[in-house]
Amino acid sequence: ASVKTPAVQMSSAVSNGSSALADIDWDNLGFTFLPTDYMYVMKCGHGENFAKGELKRFGNIELSPCAGVLNYGQGLVEGLKAYKTTDGNILLFRPEENGMRLRLGAERMCMLSPSVDQFVEAVKDTVLANERWVPPPGKGSLYIRPLLMGSGSVLSLAPAPEFTFLIYVSPVGNYFKDGLSPIDLMVETETHRATPGGTGCVKTIGNYAAVLKAQSSAKAKGYSDVLYLDSVHKKYLEEVTSCNLFIVKGNVISTPATEGTILPGITRKSIIDVARSLGFQVEEQRLTVDELLDADEVFVTGTAVGLSPVGSITYFGKRTSFRSSGVGVVTQQLYTALTRLQMGLAEDSMNWIVKL
Ligand code: COI
Repeated sequence: ASVKTPAVQMSSAVSNGSSALADIDWDNLGFTFLPTDYMYVMKCGHGENFAKGELKRFGNIELSPCAGVLNYGQGLVEGLKAYKTTDGNILLFRPEENGMRLRLGAERMCMLSPSVDQFVEAVKDTVLANERWVPPPGKGSLYIRPLLMGSGSVLSLAPAPEFTFLIYVSPVGNYFKDGLSPIDLMVETETHRATPGGTGCVKTIGNYAAVLKAQSSAKAKGYSDVLYLDSVHKKYLEEVTSCNLFIVKGNVISTPATEGTILPGITRKSIIDVARSLGFQVEEQRLTVDELLDADEVFVTGTAVGLSPVGSITYFGKRTSFRSSGVGVVTQQLYTALTRLQMGLAEDSMNWIVKL
């Protein structure tokens, strides 16, 4: 994402939790980074617990060139969103799930992590401090990006002696530029995102660097993104670079079983529950390219992406289209159910919403 200079007046009267909106073009938000007012920082040494964090003005951070995250990739990202409702409330969607996922990832990456309560409190504090950056209802959301990194110095390969937990936020609109219009995916047959026993199931930063080459090459050919296959059999569907995949066939909705190589998305998990509550049969299983190409509808889910319909899949140069335009009925139904919940427009019967 490109870094833009915010078109914002940084008057102190509006920078500290005031509900006055930042002065930006709310009608044209994309998924690009806009610097906001505050970030949250919390540190701990090896063998300690994370204790107390603080809000700081958003800005560059200082890291030793020898930091574990810079040299050996000891880092995790998270992503969640805050929405403003028409009555002025700010809602978070399942933040404790991100806190739990961060803890699992930290265990895999030999890092210490904040408790789930510390995580959720830090998210709340950061959002409130940046309240004027939460888009008005219907214009987008505030993307919240927690990071956990090995910030201490290491030269030989070892876990860093100090960890930093940081949260920054940015107002965002659609991840794929045309919003709900169907995306075109290419099945990646040369490289793989994850291997059994590797780190595909945790949100470590290296997973994202590893997919850039395939993604960039697919984008250069006009595709929106790539879909990965498993690295052992080279035939089972895994995930797209930044989101999970779903297939609709009649009343059955299927998604690849996570099995250690796929990121267990929180939107993925939520869509499974929402679909079941709407009467669909949902299966988590191994799925082949043939099953994908035979689908009635295909869509992807993720925090950044939300829920996005897939219009076509290209496999070894052959393109299969699901719909020439528009959104499938089931995809639309799930999209509406999910977004209404996230925006506080539907009853929160699953208790997923945290109101600030
Ligand atoms: C998210 O969906 O929140 C992610 O972290 C994916 C990222 C590539 C934007």
